[in-house]
Amino acid sequence: MWESRYAKRAERVRGSAIRELLKVTERPEFISFGGGLPAPEVFPTDAVRQALDKVLRTQPGRALQYSTTEGYTPLRQWLAQSLSKDNLHLDADNILITSGSQQALDLIGKLLVDEGSNVVVESPTYLATLQCWRTYGAIFTSVPSDDDGLVTAGLPPVLATSPRLIYCVPNFQNPRGVTISEPRRRDLVDMARKFDVAIIEDDPYRDLRFEGDPLPSLMELDGANGNVLALGSFSKVLTPGLRVGWIAGPKNVIEKLTLIKQGTDLHTATVNQMAVYELVASGTMARHRHVIVDEYRRRRDAMLAAMAAHFPQDVHWTRPSGGMFLWVTLPEGVNAMRVLEAAIQHKVAFVPGEHFHAEGGHVNTMRLNFSNAVPDKIWEGIGRLAEAVRENTDVDRSAKIMVHP
Ligand SMILES: Cc1ncc(COP(=O)(O)O)c(C=O)c1O
Repeated sequence: MWESRYAKRAERVRGSAIRELLKVTERPEFISFGGGLPAPEVFPTDAVRQALDKVLRTQPGRALQYSTTEGYTPLRQWLAQSLSKDNLHLDADNILITSGSQQALDLIGKLLVDEGSNVVVESPTYLATLQCWRTYGAIFTSVPSDDDGLVTAGLPPVLATSPRLIYCVPNFQNPRGVTISEPRRRDLVDMARKFDVAIIEDDPYRDLRFEGDPLPSLMELDGANGNVLALGSFSKVLTPGLRVGWIAGPKNVIEKLTLIKQGTDLHTATVNQMAVYELVASGTMARHRHVIVDEYRRRRDAMLAAMAAHFPQDVHWTRPSGGMFLWVTLPEGVNAMRVLEAAIQHKVAFVPGEHFHAEGGHVNTMRLNFSNAVPDKIWEGIGRLAEAVRENTDVDRSAKIMVHP
C-alpha cells in the first residue's frame, strides 16, 4: 500500500544485496574487512567523557538548548583558523557545521544537483555519494584513477560538456586508498577554473597520514572564493558517533547551504559540537591523532605483509600512505562476488569493488578495510581470504579450460 505513495525519487533509493550478505559478518566469529569502521580500541573514550562532563557542568543551558544552524561559533572559528594557510583566508562565515560529512554531501546534492545533472566522479568512488546524489537525479561520468589518484589528463573533453560538478576524495581515497598527487591537484584546480566547474573536495581522511608530507588541499590551491567546496569530518580521528563534520566554502554558498540545512535538522547536536570544541581547543585531538595514526599504520603494515605472504602471485593491491582502505585487483575472469560467497564460508568478509563504480563492471576488484581488525586478526583473516581467492581462481580457470580446451 505504502509503495504507491512514495515520491518518484524514492524509487532510486534501494537496499543492496551486498548489504544483506554482509549482515552475517557482524557475528563475532567473522573477521570483517567489509565495513568502513574505525578501531573502537582507540576511541578517545575518557577524553570524550571528560569533554561532555565539562560542557554539561559549565554550560548546560547552552549545550542542551536549540542553537543556530551554522553551528557552534567557537568551533567554526577554530576550524576557520586551522584550515587557513598563507593563500587561504577563512573566517567563521566560511564554515557550516554539519551532522557528519555525509550530511554535507546530502546538502550539496540538494543545492547543486538537478534531475539529469552530469556529475564527474573518480572511478571507483565513495559509494554513499553515488547513492545520495542518484536520489537527486545525478548522472555520473567516471574518470579513471591510478596510483596518483584521479587522472587529470583525460578531463578536458569531459569538462567541455559542462558537468555540474567534479567530486573527489583527494587523500587516501575511499575505496582505493590512493592520494591525488600535487601536480594533478594543480591541474584539477586549473581545469575547473578554465571550464568553470565546481569541485567538491571530500576529505575525511587527510589527518590519517602514516608517512610523507601533507599535500596542499584543492581549496588551498584555489582560494576561499573559488570553485571549491571542501568537506571535513571529526569522525576518523575522534569518533563517528558524535556526527560532527563541516563544509568550508565561499560565504554566499555557505549561507545558502545553511538555509537548506535548516529544513533538514535545524542544527547539528549542540552538546556534541561543544564537546568537540573542548577536544580540539585543549589539544586533545592533536595528541590523539598520533595514537590513531600509529595504530592504523601497524594495521596497514599487517595487511600488506599478510597479503604478500598469503595471496597468489597474480593478485595486485594498492599501498596506501594513510586512511583506512586498500584495493585489491584479482586476475581477469575472477568474480569478487563469487570470492565473497566463498569468503563467507571461511568467516571473512570484504566489499566487492563493482559497487564503487558508477557504471558497474570491474568485477575482479575488492575493497579491504584495515582499520577495524587488530593485526593478529588481519593476518588470520587474509589467510582465510586467500583460501577463498584460491578456490575461485582454480574454479574459474578449470571452467575456462573446459569451455576452451
Ligand atoms: C569519502 C567519505 N566521505 C564521507 C564520509 C562520511 O563520513 P562522516 O559522515 O562520518 O563524516 C565517509 C565515511 O566513510 C567517506 O569515506
